[in-house]
Parts: sequence; structure tokens; C-alpha cells
Amino acid sequence: MSIHIAAKAGDIADKILLPGDPLRAKFIAENFLEDAVCFNEIRGMLGFTGTHKGERVSVMGTGMGMPSISIYAHELITEYGVKKLIRVGTAGSLSADVHVRDLVLAQAAATTSRIIRNDWPEYDLPQIADFTLLDKAYHIAKGLDLTVHVGNVLSADLFYSNLFEKNLQLGQLGVKAVEMEAAALYYLGAKHQVQTLALMTISDSLVYPSEDTTAEERQNTFTDMMKVGLETLIAD
Ligand code: HPA
Repeated sequence: MSIHIAAKAGDIADKILLPGDPLRAKFIAENFLEDAVCFNEIRGMLGFTGTHKGERVSVMGTGMGMPSISIYAHELITEYGVKKLIRVGTAGSLSADVHVRDLVLAQAAATTSRIIRNDWPEYDLPQIADFTLLDKAYHIAKGLDLTVHVGNVLSADLFYSNLFEKNLQLGQLGVKAVEMEAAALYYLGAKHQVQTLALMTISDSLVYPSEDTTAEERQNTFTDMMKVGLETLIAD
């Protein structure tokens, strides 16, 4: 057991899907995993291990933001030996050609956070996805006929930010979307030499604020992203 996760050694697979919302973790376990067993309930941050197409995989909530995902990803990697971590979340579009319900694969993540600078103050260290996972996820998404974008995202510390206009200008530099976790996950991947990837469906557009989704559409696009995440995790 680690400080924030109640699992015993061996209870967690070496591949994990990481939604922010613990109830999404439960949804994934109930709908996509066989023989799922809950390994964590501390702070309600539900985690499950089961099998998908015969392969052992886990799924666990991370909470919102870089401090929260950093705690869970650190413990999963260093205490439970997890080697492949794929975040599945939502993001706000910063780009005119990225619309609600589209899938974004974060090739890299810029950040307003000091999480990486705390360790490496002299450097602007790009935070990048594991290329093997990115390549697999891209081809799996294309195979499912999904609208998929690959590029830079912004991992912000604040959801309610006075940087709204500046964030939007990043769209002109090719930054596809804003979310709150990828840069920290990628940093931990680099730090511990494990594979990390962040997938996101666009839940809102900062470019076209009137673009909207129904609850049912959100559920369907979320389900498509789950498929991409799980297939990528178990691909050879
Ligand atoms: N900002 C930050 N994170 C997000 C957003 C957003 O607009 N939408 C979904 N996650």
C-alpha cells in the first residue's frame, strides 16, 4: 500500500488508463473490463484491475490538475511498477479547426505550471508523449474513423484563469487545446522512463463558445476515446 493507494503489490496491472473522474474509472471497469476488482477507495479515487481482450489492465481516477495526477502517477510508477499510463480526459479547443467531440492526441504539452521548472529551472524542457503509444493511438483512432488531431496542447494550472485571451492566442501557434494534466504526466514518464500518453475529447471550444455537446454525445465520444485508449494499451 502506498500513501494514497490501498492496493497490495501485484493488484495493479503494468498498463493503466487514467480518467480524471473516478466515476469514469468505474464506468470503464463496468463496461470494458472483465472480472474487474476494485483496488482503491481512498479519497473516493476508485481504481480497478481486470482484463480487456484477455490482457490484464487497470483503470483509476486521478482527480483534476497536475498536483493531483502527479501524486497518483508517481505512486503507480514507483510503488506498483506501472509501465504504460494513458490519460483519457477532456479539453477545451484553442484552434478554429478543432471542434467539440473531436479527439486530440497530445504529441507535446506546454504548461503554465512550475511543476517541471521546480526541478529544472534553467531549461524549457518540452514535455512529449511516448512516440510508440502516440503512433499506435493515431492509427487505432483513424481505423475507427474518428476525427483526430495530433499536436501540442496547453496544460494549465487554472481552469478559471485571467489568461483566457493569451491561451486563445496559443491556438495560432498550433496549440490544439487546453487541459490540466498532460505536461505533468509526460514529465513523470520522462523522469521514470515509462511510457505516457494523453488523449482528450474536446468538451468545449474557447474559439467558438456556442459549440456545445449533449450529455449523450459526450458519453459516445468518451466511449470512442476509451476504445482508443484500451486498444493502445494492449497493442504489441
Ligand atoms: N480549460 C481547462 N481544462 C479543460 C477545459 C478548459 O477550457 N475544458 C476541459 N478541460
